[in-house]
Amino acid sequence: MMRAPEQVRRTTAAHLRESRCTAEHGRALLVRIDRFWDDLLQPLERLYPDGDPGAVAADLVERATRAYLERTDDLHLLDYKRALTPDWLQQPGQVGYACYADRFAGTLMGLTEKVDYLSELGVTYLHLMPALKPRDGDNDGGYAIADYRTIRPDLGTTDDLRHLATTLRGHGISLVMDLVLNHVAREHEWAERARSGEQRYRDYFHIFPDRTVPDAYERTLPEVFPDFAPGNFTWDEDLQGWVWTTFNEWQWDVNWANPDVLTEYVDIILFLANLGVEVLRLDAIAFTWKRMGTTCQNEPEVHDLTQVLRTVARIAASAVVFKAEAIVGPRDLVPYLGVGRHVGRVSDLAYHNSLMVQIWSMLASQETFLARHALTSLPATPPLGTWITYVRCHDDIGWAIDDRDAGEVGVSGFEHRRFLARWYDGSFPGSWADGMLFQVNEQTGDMRTSGTTASLLGMGGATGERLDTALSRYVLAHAMIYGWGGLPVIWSGDELATPNDPNWADEPGHEDDNRWAHRPRLDWTAAERRHDRRTVEGRAFAALSHLAHVRTSLPQLHAQAPSRVVRDTDNGILAAIREHPSGPMVTVYNVTESWRPFAYAVVAGMGIGSPWNALGDHGIAPGEDGLVWLPPLSAWWIVDRPDGQGVVG
Ligand code: GLC
Repeated sequence: MMRAPEQVRRTTAAHLRESRCTAEHGRALLVRIDRFWDDLLQPLERLYPDGDPGAVAADLVERATRAYLERTDDLHLLDYKRALTPDWLQQPGQVGYACYADRFAGTLMGLTEKVDYLSELGVTYLHLMPALKPRDGDNDGGYAIADYRTIRPDLGTTDDLRHLATTLRGHGISLVMDLVLNHVAREHEWAERARSGEQRYRDYFHIFPDRTVPDAYERTLPEVFPDFAPGNFTWDEDLQGWVWTTFNEWQWDVNWANPDVLTEYVDIILFLANLGVEVLRLDAIAFTWKRMGTTCQNEPEVHDLTQVLRTVARIAASAVVFKAEAIVGPRDLVPYLGVGRHVGRVSDLAYHNSLMVQIWSMLASQETFLARHALTSLPATPPLGTWITYVRCHDDIGWAIDDRDAGEVGVSGFEHRRFLARWYDGSFPGSWADGMLFQVNEQTGDMRTSGTTASLLGMGGATGERLDTALSRYVLAHAMIYGWGGLPVIWSGDELATPNDPNWADEPGHEDDNRWAHRPRLDWTAAERRHDRRTVEGRAFAALSHLAHVRTSLPQLHAQAPSRVVRDTDNGILAAIREHPSGPMVTVYNVTESWRPFAYAVVAGMGIGSPWNALGDHGIAPGEDGLVWLPPLSAWWIVDRPDGQGVVG
């Protein structure tokens, strides 16, 4: 049995005596500390070899101990429950929803009244967009935090957040919140104190007296917002220096090479965990470690940092899970779920950015060869690693088509990315889309896309056949994310097929950032139409509820079974096979507007004796040529018919 050093055990024991907690409770903590000591110390040794990693680890354990002792009984109970079901996020009954509290329901208390609406959609996981106090004025949708321990005053109070988390939990919904850990607002206390000259706080940031070092870094750094925040450094008069600002000039990157910064964030994590937050979304995690001569993204230390944070959370609040927000190329993505020494020690959730991009790419091109290749090239994920699958989120779509993947199938990555940006802003001949360009980079030719799912699919204002086709695309895209075997997350408003907000620029601070076009306030009048199947809202809402319902009934969709793409199919078909102890499954999608064939042998080869499309509730049988034909823009989830009787569709 591993053991923490005697000194650490003694300090912990002293805290336990002081707190007068029960012997059983104290023992449980000591077991955790022993169990996780190595997981904590080893990454610290790699991160801070010149410091005193042992002392940092001991200090973090003390912080974890205090948080553990303050954790409420119902949260301790949650810790036990999660320990008994470590795959809870992987179960097919999980469906996610992401929204801004104010744009969805006004306030945190308002949100507690909308829980039934979420339950109707089958939601079990609610990502609340930044709700901590941001800077005044433009704040990047709340991602410029001025105070991590205060709730945005217009949304409510800390007590309201605790109440919301408890209410949600009572309805089987886990609260997910952002942990913005790459930067703070220029108005955050640390930045203020740095500006007033306190060396301790200057050391929390990357500050340079002149352009020498920034220029050297800039040679290999990309720009995140080339349009409204070019460059990665900002001159600050008070600092008399250039401060690292990857995002906007008022978002100051913190210096994770300083262990004091790490300690600050540990306290913030413990604070949020004890309010009842169950999943922490590690915002912009890819950018946290800087290294000269690189893009300063995805450096190996990022995973060590995550391991430290996660381990502390495990000691104090073991139910808490991390989600990596790393919107990076497909090959850099999997390490965020843990590979090598980090397996099972970092984030359990990460965004399947590659699947999202390939879905849009297939819909635009009506071809699947690139997607089949790219999705097959992804390395395997660790057993508890789970993809967040999504069609849209609050951000723009960066066209993460990997040059190597594209090249391997004879496509120019650059040209294809351009095609997608042009298709989705509606300027490519024949496009049905109605999105907008975001952050056109004149130097690299890179361009990204804003727009809601409905607008990107050309649903806004469409009627008759055009609307029907767009709705088929809408259902197809969502069937892909519900049927991939990850945790599907719906971006607020998409369940009602909400089009772009035409007045997005009217709110102060939003005018330069067209991502606000796809962050509409939820239209509750439109939501009232959700049960009327004659309306777009009714058709969209019913489709998503149906997907959630069918998904829940299929143990084959447990996230632990990987989706393996069938390489050799018709070029309009994307098919994936899933092997799970509860039974095999084949998902087949026709991304074109014509009927397309699929080889029945794939289904038979999986041992599915009585194939049945669980989504359309019909049996499947091949023609004499051994083919089955899928209607235009259709989705089939093929499993063995539950009652085992052979049926002909
Ligand atoms: C993440 C957020 C994005 C924000 C950025 C900076 O990528 O999703 O909205 O602009 O981080 O915090």
